[in-house]
Amino acid sequence: MSNRTFTMIKPDATQKGYTGAILDQIIKAGFTVKAMKWTRLTQEQAGLFYEIHKERPFYGELVEFMSSGPIVAAILEKENAVADFRKLIGATNPAQAEEGTIRKKFASSVGENAVHGSDSDENAVIEGDFFFSKLERF
Ligand code: RTP
Ligand code: MG
Repeated sequence: MSNRTFTMIKPDATQKGYTGAILDQIIKAGFTVKAMKWTRLTQEQAGLFYEIHKERPFYGELVEFMSSGPIVAAILEKENAVADFRKLIGATNPAQAEEGTIRKKFASSVGENAVHGSDSDENAVIEGDFFFSKLERF
């Protein structure tokens, strides 16, 4: 079990002004920020990041959405980081997310769901490497 995960605050949430509130909830839940940047993905970069979903019917919409505005990308540290973070953000569809979770509070739909969280230790490393050089992690 690794102690790091990767997250993005998605364009719906940054554009609604939820960035500060979401970061506050993440930090209060015990995660430490090891790397962070405010950036915007091109369609090509969003397509690469979510390439694993290439064959899914929602891929085009997802790429469009993820490149539609700024995001915050971050590497987070905590014991049992991947699983604990998925618990903190809640189900993919905010209608099914538990009360108090980030998606329940800040997401509007299954597509525009406020935050990303890595689904495995392996993908946390791949996703962190996608955004951050060694010099950008502390
Ligand atoms: P994420 O990777 O962003 O943390 O989300 P997740 O694991 O909870 O969900 P995943 O199955 O990996 O899907 C990735 C993202 O694709 C969008 N999506 N849209 N319209 C749809 O039915 C649909 N299903 C998924 C969401 O933005 C989801 O977070
Ligand atoms: Mg996923």
